[in-house]
Amino acid sequence: MEEAQAELASLAAQLEKANVAYHREDAPDLSDAEYDALKARNLAIEQAFPELKLADSPSDRVGAAPSDAFGKIRHVQRMMSLENAFDAEGIVEFAARVGKYLGHSDRIAFTAEPKIDGLSLSLRYEDGVLMQAATRGDGEVGENVLANARTISDIPHQIANAPQVLEVRGEVYMSHADFADLNRRQAERGGKTFANPRNAAAGSLRQLDPAITASRPLRFFAYAWGEVSEPLADTQFGVVERFREMGFQVNPLTRRFEDIQALLGHYAEIEQGRATLGYDIDGVVYKVDDLAMQRRLGFRSATPRWAIAHKFPAELAWTRLLEIDIQVGRTGALSPVARLQPVTVGGVVVQNATLHNEDYIAGRDSKGETIRDGKDIRVGDWVQVYRAGDVIPKIADVDIGKRPDDSAAYVFPTHCPECGSEALRLEGDAVRRCSGGLVCPAQAVERLKHFVSRNAFDIDGLGAKQVEAFYRDGWIKNPADIFDLQATYGQGPRQVKNREGWGAKSAEKLFAGIEAKRQIPLNRLIFALGIRHVGETSAQLLARHYGTWDTFEAVMTKAIPDEGAEWQDLIAIDGVGAVMAKSLVSTFQNKAERAAIDALVAHLQVQDVHAPVQKDSPVAGKSVVFTGTLEKMSRAEAKARAEALGAKVVGSVSAKTDLVVAGPGAGSKAKQAEALGVEMIDEDAWIALIGDA
Ligand code: IVH
Repeated sequence: MEEAQAELASLAAQLEKANVAYHREDAPDLSDAEYDALKARNLAIEQAFPELKLADSPSDRVGAAPSDAFGKIRHVQRMMSLENAFDAEGIVEFAARVGKYLGHSDRIAFTAEPKIDGLSLSLRYEDGVLMQAATRGDGEVGENVLANARTISDIPHQIANAPQVLEVRGEVYMSHADFADLNRRQAERGGKTFANPRNAAAGSLRQLDPAITASRPLRFFAYAWGEVSEPLADTQFGVVERFREMGFQVNPLTRRFEDIQALLGHYAEIEQGRATLGYDIDGVVYKVDDLAMQRRLGFRSATPRWAIAHKFPAELAWTRLLEIDIQVGRTGALSPVARLQPVTVGGVVVQNATLHNEDYIAGRDSKGETIRDGKDIRVGDWVQVYRAGDVIPKIADVDIGKRPDDSAAYVFPTHCPECGSEALRLEGDAVRRCSGGLVCPAQAVERLKHFVSRNAFDIDGLGAKQVEAFYRDGWIKNPADIFDLQATYGQGPRQVKNREGWGAKSAEKLFAGIEAKRQIPLNRLIFALGIRHVGETSAQLLARHYGTWDTFEAVMTKAIPDEGAEWQDLIAIDGVGAVMAKSLVSTFQNKAERAAIDALVAHLQVQDVHAPVQKDSPVAGKSVVFTGTLEKMSRAEAKARAEALGAKVVGSVSAKTDLVVAGPGAGSKAKQAEALGVEMIDEDAWIALIGDA
């Protein structure tokens, strides 16, 4: 955990430096693959440790803040980035996600077009005249490069029959031939040469002297738009066609398909022809064709839900597996890690890779089916490492031909390497777990680190490193001890201020930091407990549902799986399933765990949590149940919309329910609503109510 936190900080710094070098100085210090790998690594760690995600995480950022040399332009609509996928599976998943969100069983049409490796540019036309050209910058504010954009021959200065406001977005790039030419000329003049066509394009567009830009042969493909005063077409494909009619260059490999296999076929074709295109591309972009669907799908923090970039494959490398280490996590999971002879993969030195779990090492997947033709992985083997970009390096394959004669199959430990407790693998769990609970030092320390992490107690002066050191010395064994730290180690023979690296000031600061967190919101406390399956979002759901610690604690103590009102109430929370509920209940009903929780809470004043109410919506503050089949949108979309309007979406009908939205096939919930006299409407009435018919 501490390692993860440190790595996230280091990745943020590296990415920021790379962003500035790339976007602002046009002098990248990393290759694209290296940059992608860092970003992917960052995302993977964030996914593994969501509580460590930085508020200004590089994952939510697009590009770098604009430099001061150019005037700044605030984008009326943010310039977004794209989600990445690295294999066909990722695309199939994407299409399924889109279909599910829209509640569609029909085929959904997608466009497919090359992902141009250049830099994005936004062009604003007013009454058909080019008035503004802005780089992406950080997505919110870009640089005004109008004078330079005017020198690009692919960009029309004037458009006939254009809407009053038209913001065309696309990619500025340089062809291979022009790049080679430019670098030759630069070298002859003793000027700066560029690492690749994209940097050359960026460096050329961001020239303070437009005459220089004019001497650099830049090109532009239009593929997207921002603000428009009237719709351009009903489909993505239609808009691109309009761009072409308006005089823009659009990519000739843009196609529309209704079938995922056909999309993937087009990807294969584009990849095959990549070398002969004459310009750099780094993947294929798929977009939902229907613009009404695009609107419904909307955006996440930095990327649209309706598009994805299918990147070209990652690099592979062979190296020797030196050792298999087992790491024990907060929930006791034993995770095998491959220690490798360092090897460069896609420009990054890799020394560690995940081996997932014992089945993976043995050559089986989680369902017991053979993988890698059943080849197991052994210490001493030559293994193929890959970084699919999205994750921590993985082992793809093993070369049995190079296996040392004396090698032996890896025996996965049946006991925890940290505390010696039995490590059990329960039915249906892919992972073997240490049964030591709080007895296991690895689990205890990981839990403590989780407890003080950013989205949990976030105590000033008490990070992962400090917690580890206090734990090692026996000063803190469980969260409650943190709140006794001053009483025990604020005076007397052993004191915080006398520890190495501490002084009177930092000790005082630490005690003040701890004091400040005696008051803690209920959701943070629930999350901080580190209960398996209970993440930040679930903690928030639970807190909003129960409101106070006393209520929450009472229900968790009383609930019996699959029985009684408390259990029903718990699993009726939308987003809380039986697995999470069981995990909660068993934690609260375990003696040792319960003692630790009670000892902690005795130190705290837990603040109640109330669901936020958006006052100016017809469903604000109301408790809504969806039941039966929704035909116009998926449950996920209906729920997201309702919550955005301030409603509380719950899973079962009670006297407290304000509204039931019932589609065809609604059964017991509709009956219950009737019996209780709860207002019930159909999907059309719901859409009319929320104002989006
Ligand atoms: S669509 C809201 N289409 O890739 C989505 N982007 O990694 C807007 N890019 O910022 C982007 N070719 O600079 C789109 N055919 C294409 C693209 C493309 C290149 C760039 C663009 C974007 C980046 C995301």
